[in-house]
Amino acid sequence: MRISGSTTVCGIVGDPIQHSLSPAMQNAAFEHAELDFVYVALRLPRGAAKSCADAVRALGIRGLNVTVPHKVDVLPYLDSVDPQAARIGAVNTIVNEGGQLCGYNTDAVGFGQGIEAHGIHVRGLDVVVLGAGGAARAVVFSLLDGGAHVTILNRDSGRAASLAGDAASLCGCRVAHGALVEGTLESLLSGAALLVNTTSVGMHPLENATPFPARLLRRDLAVCDIVYNPRETVLLRDAAACGAVTVDGVEMLVRQGARAFELWTGIPAPVELMRAVVIRELGRATH
Ligand code: ATR
Repeated sequence: MRISGSTTVCGIVGDPIQHSLSPAMQNAAFEHAELDFVYVALRLPRGAAKSCADAVRALGIRGLNVTVPHKVDVLPYLDSVDPQAARIGAVNTIVNEGGQLCGYNTDAVGFGQGIEAHGIHVRGLDVVVLGAGGAARAVVFSLLDGGAHVTILNRDSGRAASLAGDAASLCGCRVAHGALVEGTLESLLSGAALLVNTTSVGMHPLENATPFPARLLRRDLAVCDIVYNPRETVLLRDAAACGAVTVDGVEMLVRQGARAFELWTGIPAPVELMRAVVIRELGRATH
């Protein structure tokens, strides 16, 4: 890749940011598409969202991905926010259209496309979501938009109730919720066809932990884990051992990136290449 005086700049802001896989994924995609674009990781400390938005306008940066801790904080400094991102209350992608900054949430689209690609069509399905943090919000709104019946379970049941309340009022549907405690899971799970883990349980360095007991998994319960490091979590390994359909976190990571690429460039993203790069980089990180 050759950087010139006319190269278009995109990037990712967050803190910490040095382990982000997005620069490798997006630069490979730009190169493949023969675009004169470059993508860099920029550490942005908490509280600096406004100066970041000003800098994007001043420097003519084409687009940004936004990650922890800025996904919510950056909202007031944008000129417009896509309706789905507004409902989720968080933005992970900014597009600069001639100085006007528009915010999107491609995590939700990425999650939806990822499970569709594995043959899981959520309309009418009972889906149990583990977790009630930022990642859960994008997943829950994607599922509700797709017509699923959602139950949110979280260690802190008050947080589950709060997310369920927000989602129910914004989507005009019923959203069940409860505590993520082993005793109650069996009954809550009986009619479910899909289980989605959005908690950090199972993620490096806690890769030996699982948010869900293996004995409650079954062949007809598809399982999606948004944790991508490791790619095969204990939860996904347990589900695969039952013969269930599994969807790993690389899928959502790649598809949210692919959607961002498309918003910035206006051309289809090379999804397969982006997946291959992420898998290669994950392998490097662990060896
Ligand atoms: P993110 O933006 O990645 O969702 P977050 O907002 O910090 O991050 O949310 C982390 C989620 O993982 C929460 O649902 C959290 O549960 P609590 O709300 O009860 O804290 C969940 N989580 C983290 N560690 C957990 C653990 N050891 N057991 C169960 N849930 C856990």
